[in-house]
Amino acid sequence: EQIEKGGYEHFMLKEIFEQPKSIHDTLRGRLLVEEGIIKMAGIWDNLERLNQAQKITIIACGTSWHAGLIGEYLIEEFARIPVEVEYASEFRYRNPIISEKDIVIAISQSGETADTMAAIKMAKEKGAFVYGICNVVDSSISRVTDAGSYTHAGPEIGVASTKAFTAQLTVLSLIALKLGKHNGHLSNQEFMRLCTELETIPQKVQEVLESTHEITKEIAKSFVDAQNFLYLGRGYNFPAALEGALKLKEISYIHAEGYPAAEMKHGPIALIDENMPIVIIAPRQGHYDKIVSNVQEIKARKGKVIAVVNKGDTQVASVADYVIEFPETSECFSPIIASVPLQLLAYYIAVYRGANVDQPRNLAKSVTVE
Ligand code: AGP
Repeated sequence: EQIEKGGYEHFMLKEIFEQPKSIHDTLRGRLLVEEGIIKMAGIWDNLERLNQAQKITIIACGTSWHAGLIGEYLIEEFARIPVEVEYASEFRYRNPIISEKDIVIAISQSGETADTMAAIKMAKEKGAFVYGICNVVDSSISRVTDAGSYTHAGPEIGVASTKAFTAQLTVLSLIALKLGKHNGHLSNQEFMRLCTELETIPQKVQEVLESTHEITKEIAKSFVDAQNFLYLGRGYNFPAALEGALKLKEISYIHAEGYPAAEMKHGPIALIDENMPIVIIAPRQGHYDKIVSNVQEIKARKGKVIAVVNKGDTQVASVADYVIEFPETSECFSPIIASVPLQLLAYYIAVYRGANVDQPRNLAKSVTVE
């Protein structure tokens, strides 16, 4: 096992550090910037059906569901196809409106999750075309879906998903850009700009790993005894906040909640006092000024702000208690990079609490029962 961990203390840390490679592997042979194309057989073979979809419903559980939420933002922004994201466990037990004109995208690292499997079966019975995004090759979900794309993250052993999540975001980015290019909603110039940026993501993830490893370790020490955490983000980084909170809950057993930053004043603000740490993801794009005022509201109530900001940020950084910087990218790809220090933060808090990081209590790597 020590050999398999490749010198890292835990599989989770190894998998966090593998992300530049896993994202690169997921892009390899698909993102061909010089030729100006995205090559994905599963999408190409079904392009017409996908682009004529009345709506796309994304079904998944846990971390994969968070990736699905970002998929919704990506597909609606670039391909202008309406997208809904549902927990597979809810979808399967209600009577959703799904027809032959619909596309269902099922996302699953393991490809074995019972609720996602059952939801796929129901969608197929209703005539939908089901597209799978799985990490495990030849898994049950990859076999029952009509078409699909693999994430090439490699085996993920840590129960808390890390590299599979960022690989899912990578595949969803490719799908959204490819659909948008072919249905004409994305101009060639914009498509090329985004493809060129997407190609830089593995390098930027490498940079963020190197630049935030020590600081996240340091920050983690201050929050070993925290009882609660709030994670806030806007737009593309709202689901990244949900995922950051889930990581912390799973491995450190600290209660954490993710929220869209603007929802703070509709309830969670009541929780804020000097004992409440708040991780806030605030890249310069999007609604930066709004997030600056969210941070000021938190500080006025003495909350402890851990700001995850772009390199060189001054406005948020000047009022935050702790600052984690990440390289700038297009807003739509920022969750891929911003999620990495959140994984590290959760990892080190859990390690300092003496928790079993790779096999947290009560959790299994794939949930094959209801
Ligand atoms: C992730 O950290 C979790 N352990 C869990 O939420 C997981 O994402 C969920 O069970 C779905 O698994 P899947 O992607 O294999 O379907």
